Amino acid sequence: VAPDGSVFPVPTETEAQAAYAEIARAVDEQRDGSSVVAVQGLGFVGTAVAAALVSAGHRVIGVDLPGPGSYWKLAKIAAGLPPVGSPDPALEAALSEGVAARMLHATPFEEAYGLADVIVVDVDLGLDGTVRAAPVREAAVDMARFEQAIRAIGRHMRPDALVVVETTVPVGTCRAVVIPALVDERRRRGIEDPPLLANAYERVMPGPRYLESVRAYPRSFAGIDPESSTQARAFLESFVEAPLRELPDLESAELGKLLENSYRAANIAFIHEWTLLAESIGVDLWTIVDSIRARVGTHDNIRDPGFGVGGYCLTKDSLLAQWGAARLLGSEVRLETTLTALEINAMMPLHTLEHVRTVSSDGLAGCTIAVCGVAYLPEVADTRNSPTETLLGGLEAAGVRVRVHDPHVVRWPERPDVVVEQDLRHALTGADGVVLAVPHRAYIELGARRLTELVGRPSFVVDAQNILDDVTAAELRALGWRVSGVGKGHWRAAGYAEPA
Ligand SMILES: NC(=O)c1ccc[n+]([C@@H]2O[C@H](COP(=O)([O-])OP(=O)(O)OC[C@H]3O[C@@H](n4cnc5c(N)ncnc54)[C@H](O)[C@@H]3O)[C@@H](O)[C@H]2O)c1
Repeated sequence: VAPDGSVFPVPTETEAQAAYAEIARAVDEQRDGSSVVAVQGLGFVGTAVAAALVSAGHRVIGVDLPGPGSYWKLAKIAAGLPPVGSPDPALEAALSEGVAARMLHATPFEEAYGLADVIVVDVDLGLDGTVRAAPVREAAVDMARFEQAIRAIGRHMRPDALVVVETTVPVGTCRAVVIPALVDERRRRGIEDPPLLANAYERVMPGPRYLESVRAYPRSFAGIDPESSTQARAFLESFVEAPLRELPDLESAELGKLLENSYRAANIAFIHEWTLLAESIGVDLWTIVDSIRARVGTHDNIRDPGFGVGGYCLTKDSLLAQWGAARLLGSEVRLETTLTALEINAMMPLHTLEHVRTVSSDGLAGCTIAVCGVAYLPEVADTRNSPTETLLGGLEAAGVRVRVHDPHVVRWPERPDVVVEQDLRHALTGADGVVLAVPHRAYIELGARRLTELVGRPSFVVDAQNILDDVTAAELRALGWRVSGVGKGHWRAAGYAEPA
């Protein structure tokens, strides 16, 4: 069952075999000098990479697992559709054109790696258990699943095919895990030559420019040897339109990705204590941060205050760095600042919960609160590690009846027990309070009168993401609402959180 509710029966072995035979025939018939690329893993990254490759003229075979957890991705792509709804129409266009031209295929058969000149690894590599459930500093990495994926490639790949690892991996993984697994599987097939291998980590950004982000972000990469580097460069140049930067070795490429994401996560954590300070002394941190960004070149990437950090990457990549450094490379260095940042980010949604407590003067138990936004980014449907999940846990523990709304999320895979409302009126009518958690356009465009009309009376609103401007906040206040917001110390100083 796909997140949009559409259902695809997992095919029988015979049906899948027949479909795969058709793909193998199509690929063989069309061998005309253009390369065949297999993309392993058709998740948020692999789907966009497959689309970018096919629109650059490659023949592409996407491979994912045949179980109920992921078969729908194969079925959707085989129908020319993105597995998860996307606000980028270019993604769907590239997929549907690729399928119509028989240049893009999708299969659960690992034999497909044997058809490819290049195999791109886009599978997941995460933690044992979820980030929020585990003690953040000591989480373990689930390397076994990743190694199985690499072994599947080794079982079938052509001796001279290039393997390109785009998955974000713990530093040291390519040399300690990928190469031994490939060498072992190839030896079983009598192949003694060392495999060609490169790391070219992805920077794709889901959102309105999802497909373009694969092509347009500069790319760093490294090969295990000169031949791998040369082939990786030529492959990347075939679909990446931005400058390439070759790093000296695989470990540098692995570390680069982990540092890049840890840097962003630490920036977000840093602003949190200034959020607390701004609120306590009654100033508007959003305006202050905006004014600091005028220092272009040194300060323009200072982060906004906010709700928390979600998604698959910023919540785990610092842990992959620490784990790989210690377990695979024997380093004793502790990434203290980096891991502290991760903890701060994981707990950040509970600050919004504190706002809710402050503004709901009658206590929380038994009241009904509408939480607007489940996805971890505006205008996307990705709910992995959503800060809303943490807030929801806190609200439920306090005895709140919670209604959840998101215009982009039909099913919430991490909380399948929760109904995600699509109809805002349904979610808001009669609520004792509202939390604006994700800056989806639908919430930014609401306005004070419409919000009051939907709820049916003035209640309270907590704005976790600068969704309400000062004019709207003042209007709500005039209508009798209690209003509070993360980083909005000036609202607190003006008494907006008090009963009107
Ligand atoms: N999501 C992002 O925005 C983003 C951006 C840059 C890099 N990355 C990194 O890219 C990697 C993939 O991320 P994602 O968001 O696409 O994850 P995802 O979970 O959405 O997709 C991974 C896919 O790999 C499949 N898979 C797992 N094992 C497999 C196997 N043995 N054979 C075939 N398929 C298999 C899974 O079924 C799943 O569909 C991660 O390392 C992530 O950190 C993600």
